[in-house]
Amino acid sequence: MKCSDQLEKIAADCSSFLEERYGKGTITPVMGEGDPGSRIMMVGEAPGAEETRLRRPFVGKAGRNLDEFLETVGLDRKDLYITNTVKFRPVKIHERTGSLSNRPPTKKEVNDCLPFLKREIEAVKPLVVVTLGNTPLQALADDKKTVIGSVHGIEIPVIWPQVSFCLFPLYHPASIIYNRSLGEIYLQDLAKLRMYLEEREIIMSGSTNY
Ligand code: URA
Repeated sequence: MKCSDQLEKIAADCSSFLEERYGKGTITPVMGEGDPGSRIMMVGEAPGAEETRLRRPFVGKAGRNLDEFLETVGLDRKDLYITNTVKFRPVKIHERTGSLSNRPPTKKEVNDCLPFLKREIEAVKPLVVVTLGNTPLQALADDKKTVIGSVHGIEIPVIWPQVSFCLFPLYHPASIIYNRSLGEIYLQDLAKLRMYLEEREIIMSGSTNY
């Protein structure tokens, strides 16, 4: 089956599963997007409000941040495949006002969505999976205690029966909004990512367009 057909099937299966699990009409799934032939996949935590409204990953504030950072190392999101670990927005409801805000996904939510992320990886077959923050890192690394603070910017090989790839852990772009001091480290990690991709000829050396 063609990769794009596989991705459509994964989206349909995920939608039916979430509907059954959480109740019809309660969940708006947001699946991955981008170049299904890309050798680079980026995986975030979970969609937020804007992502859910537009049903596209990384289109809110964190997405704009991500785009800016990618630009600094000459990467363009249209050439990547971008997705999330959890395929819907985890929310908490404000008791008094009834308004919704984001919350971190629970273990159960991650475990519910993980088979669909794994299927996306098996369909796209990337050489590098760039994880953004702890959630995708811990979901995909063998050692569930791995934390971003110790492994950011260092590649971790992963071998599955269907695919092999390297995880390349980065901080989540939203963490830079909240902790400006991470900005410099983030830029260094992105420079390492760029070098890693160039050395393996996944992108061309010196190019801003690949
Ligand atoms: N938007 C996403 O799609 N994923 C995140 O992890 C954060 C914001």
